[in-house]
Amino acid sequence: MAEVVVEAEALVMRFDGVIAVNDVSMRLRKRELLCLIGPNGAGKTTFFRCLTGQYAPSAGKIWIEGRAVAGWPIHAIARLGVGIKTQVPSLANGLSVRENIWLGARATMPLAKANQRVDELLTELELTAHAATLTGSLAHGIRQMVEIGVALSSDPWLLLLDEPAGGLTKEEAARVGEVIRKLNQRITVVVVEHDMEFVRSVASRVLVFHQGRVIADGPADTVLADTLVRQVYLGSKVR
Ligand SMILES: Nc1ncnc2c1ncn2[C@@H]1O[C@H](COP(=O)(O)OP(=O)(O)OP(=O)(O)O)[C@@H](O)[C@H]1O
Ligand SMILES: [Mg+2]
Repeated sequence: MAEVVVEAEALVMRFDGVIAVNDVSMRLRKRELLCLIGPNGAGKTTFFRCLTGQYAPSAGKIWIEGRAVAGWPIHAIARLGVGIKTQVPSLANGLSVRENIWLGARATMPLAKANQRVDELLTELELTAHAATLTGSLAHGIRQMVEIGVALSSDPWLLLLDEPAGGLTKEEAARVGEVIRKLNQRITVVVVEHDMEFVRSVASRVLVFHQGRVIADGPADTVLADTLVRQVYLGSKVR
């Protein structure tokens, strides 16, 4: 089996009276593609933000490639070779698609390599036609792809995406799913996502959150057929 590259142990995140993440332990192996799912308020984003360094957990441990990183700031996590797309838009609207991705690349690479990286990504994500467009004037679906491009700009080995298909049409979501599956041939990916169709189409492994805890973990087919998981989603998410 491939090596464990991310591990959380007994992770807890409290906000005043709310326990958003309650004793979560998990392991992620190299080149896995993991989807975090669960109903609204289940704790997915909070857990994700502990991994990315947006939150310092109240208790518990996180290791990334063996380094104990709980409480590290987001830029220090990123420097380990982790690409992060948060739920909140991060693009500079007054800059072009190319410039946004280039800035991400240039933060970690010499000029020639950054230029090359941007060209590769524009092609890979089918953004070449939009390269010179200001991101502020892009349609939502293309913006989401540019956000993924920025997360990939530093050529990460681990990609963490919060709701990459949020607000997309079926076709756009399918395209993002395709891109993620292709990326996963090379890199490890963790995705937080609501859209079950999307999850079914991309996920090899699914971790289900409910009330701050992990209630199921396993292959997508098995987990999505699980009675408890279906009850948790009843009437809202499982189609
Ligand atoms: N910054 C915060 N301050 C206080 N409470 C918070 C904060 N962030 C999250 N919570 C609470 O923690 C719980 C888990 O929220 P979280 O955003 O992690 O859920 P989620 O699974 O991502 O939900 P959604 O599917 O709606 O995005 C909720 O009860 C939420 O209200
Ligand atoms: Mg969320």
